Amino acid sequence: MSSETDHHLNVPATSNEPIADPGLPEHLPRPTDVDEVAAKRAERQIATLFGVSALCAVLFCVAYFALSIGEDPDVFLNMGASNVALGAALGLALLAIGAGAIQWSRKLMSDHEIVEYRHPASSPAEDRAEAVAALEEGIADSGIARRPLVRNSLIGAMAFLGLPAIVALRDLGPLPGDKLARTVWTKDMLVVQDVDGAKIKPSDMEIGQLVNAEPGIFFDVNAEGEPVIEGTELLQEKAKAAVILVRMAPEDITPVPGRENWGVDGILCYSKICTHVGCPISLWEQQTHHLLCPCHQSTFDLADNGKVVFGPAARHLPQLPIKVNAEGYLVAQSDFTEPVGPSYWERDRSDLT
Ligand code: FES
Repeated sequence: MSSETDHHLNVPATSNEPIADPGLPEHLPRPTDVDEVAAKRAERQIATLFGVSALCAVLFCVAYFALSIGEDPDVFLNMGASNVALGAALGLALLAIGAGAIQWSRKLMSDHEIVEYRHPASSPAEDRAEAVAALEEGIADSGIARRPLVRNSLIGAMAFLGLPAIVALRDLGPLPGDKLARTVWTKDMLVVQDVDGAKIKPSDMEIGQLVNAEPGIFFDVNAEGEPVIEGTELLQEKAKAAVILVRMAPEDITPVPGRENWGVDGILCYSKICTHVGCPISLWEQQTHHLLCPCHQSTFDLADNGKVVFGPAARHLPQLPIKVNAEGYLVAQSDFTEPVGPSYWERDRSDLT
């Protein structure tokens, strides 16, 4: 063992030696331990906090009965006065009683320093042997080994006990059928801007640009001037059919067999719904052609078939085949050829193509 020391740090130069137990720092008494006046003052402070708590509890009850709710409610700062008063009174009551308890323990409760040594967590060998013996004796006493009929029927009963839990899953609602697998996109449906429903021509997009888009049907109205899709149905369909358009230099795009005509002049259309757990994505890096999901950082290469290049998503981003219609606007060639959104057990259904 070396006797050299590092004089700057005053510790042994070798690093293998255990550090000496520094012990406990000197115990300093609190003001309330040595000064009776300070102790009395602390006592009054604590009692005041408990008193404030009691007062707030009473105010809560008063507010409950005094402030009206219902058709002609009392109002405070554009909010229901009853809600504000009840929340504030109860919150202050809890705060004051908590603060009082903390002050009590910090200033007046005993201030002994206690050292607790750690002992091995496992029980002594004889205790463990005793526990095993007691278990074996219990098993022998129950006769479970000698009475297979009782044992097997018990096992069966316990297995059947899981059935109610499985049956109760039905309360989660009707099965989705093919709703997860299909969207409203159909052949020749316009691809429009998601904010104002404006139609998009290829010349409207510059290389490197990303546009958030939707199916044109979301903005269509019937003869009475009412939306073709509205309400809950609209929200559900929007959640599945949202897309992004990106324009890249055609030579940057990795050709995918069978998808040569799915884009227009370097403009490709992908689902906007992350295939991990379904966040909408539009963080676009022009230079790398990467699309980043803000939720868990899955990253998709849109120049390479929407391939996952990073993150927890297990499936590429589905691509919507697009073309230009007779008027020069971007339209879909069909629905997606695979389910969009989070992966699930039926995603490879063969009837989707
Ligand atoms: S939802 Fe996109 S990475 Fe998780």
